Amino acid sequence: MSMESIIEVLLRYNVNAPRYTSYPPANFFDEVKEDTPIESIWRDSNALFPEALSFYFHVPFCNKRCYFCGCTSENLKEESYVEAYFAALYSEMDKKLEWISKERKVHQIHFGGGTPTSVPTVYLKSVIDRLKELFEFTDFVEVAIECNPATVTEELLLELREAGFNRVSYGIQDFNLKVLKKIGREPSLLPVPYLVDFSKKIGFKSVNLDLIYGLPGQNQEVFLDSVHKTIEANPERVALFSYAHVPWVRPEQKVLDSYVIPSARDKMRFFLNARAIFMEAGYLEVGMDHFVKPSDSLGIAAKTGSLHRNFQGYCTRETTGQVYAFGSSAISQLDNAYLQNTKNTSEYIRTVRLGLKTEIKVHELSVTEKMYRDMIERLMCNHSLKVSAKEKELLGNKWGVLCALAKDELVEVLSDHEIVATELGRLVIRFVASKMDPLLDSGANNEGVFSKTI
Ligand SMILES: C[S@@+](CC[C@H](N)C(=O)[O-])C[C@H]1O[C@@H](n2cnc3c(N)ncnc32)[C@H](O)[C@@H]1O
Ligand code: SF4
Repeated sequence: MSMESIIEVLLRYNVNAPRYTSYPPANFFDEVKEDTPIESIWRDSNALFPEALSFYFHVPFCNKRCYFCGCTSENLKEESYVEAYFAALYSEMDKKLEWISKERKVHQIHFGGGTPTSVPTVYLKSVIDRLKELFEFTDFVEVAIECNPATVTEELLLELREAGFNRVSYGIQDFNLKVLKKIGREPSLLPVPYLVDFSKKIGFKSVNLDLIYGLPGQNQEVFLDSVHKTIEANPERVALFSYAHVPWVRPEQKVLDSYVIPSARDKMRFFLNARAIFMEAGYLEVGMDHFVKPSDSLGIAAKTGSLHRNFQGYCTRETTGQVYAFGSSAISQLDNAYLQNTKNTSEYIRTVRLGLKTEIKVHELSVTEKMYRDMIERLMCNHSLKVSAKEKELLGNKWGVLCALAKDELVEVLSDHEIVATELGRLVIRFVASKMDPLLDSGANNEGVFSKTI
């Protein structure tokens, strides 16, 4: 099939659908009430699986926010505000870490944002040190940080290593200066190949670069040039995100409406060409938007079927476990429940100071929802789904709906209980997964709720 006919087919499935970084998606979480048993939800999780402990810390600040960004953050204010935020974060840790069994080991710590490096490293180091005092870390613990390369220097990287970080991710988005200007972003301070090389030299075990396709100012030539430059920089992982235009959530994105934003058709071309280039360069495709070196733990996990998906994207089940999250907007992902803190930083500081609940959203999963979560995750990660008799019964006529996607060559039916996504189906895996989601049953138009699958 030619690229143009593939695109023709795929455009038919360019619908608004969840990204399934959680199940149910975050917009189905409930309001936290006075009597929501936060402490027992955390304590109960100690007896659930996976036992591995993961921590997420949200740093809601950026030196200067970019127009395109969908993340929850605000422009950096005075130092006293940052100090107040971290005082609140440490108090939240002091209170809630009590509830986690010290028998469990830390496998992963992730600092996201925002831009965690927009604050002095000492604040981040204090978080890691507090965890070290209380918990045993595994030998292969991953301590990861998201950085904006516009503000990263060699000194900062050495400081981060010293603080205990061993994985780093840089948001490149695009190398082209005109594209960066349109999205309100500065280029990397250091040449990117040097940045990647230096990071590895001083001991970061894995370097990830984020790229986004579908930004204003991008065309085939511009974007593929960024893809080649990314490969030249030689990172272990690349996240190739589709630009999610969600101005109803992020009003700053309206600035981009004054430019021509690449059409879904163009985006598909960018993605398919970039994908071919990454694969030719020896990267493996993982999940729906990652390319990794075969030796990388994500590549190995993809091969062995132990890939996992959460709010931080694709990860390995072995290293992830249940995620306990701290800070404004942070979402804990436990086996039994999701819990989200208030997104408003001042409100977060206020509630912690007053000893009130920081959480605003909660969702305790039913047995049925856990089964759906598991099936959707398996399909999103492995691109195939083998269902048990019990799962097939739960899916009811949705199993038939999934199998019927074979007519459109999105799946191949291997047996009466197993399907595998085709090359085409993999490209719209969110659409395929949404076909078994009972929450989307009402046939509601999800425009204004979820981003497009392309
Ligand atoms: C929390 S941001 C962190 C990166 C860091 N602050 C920086 O600026 O490089 C994580 C990543 O989310 C991705 N991202 C943010 N907004 C997005 C959007 N609207 N659509 C697609 N990807 C987006 C970007 O690739 C970004 O690097
Ligand atoms: S891309 Fe990074 S720096 Fe830009 S607004 Fe988002 S989190 Fe902040």
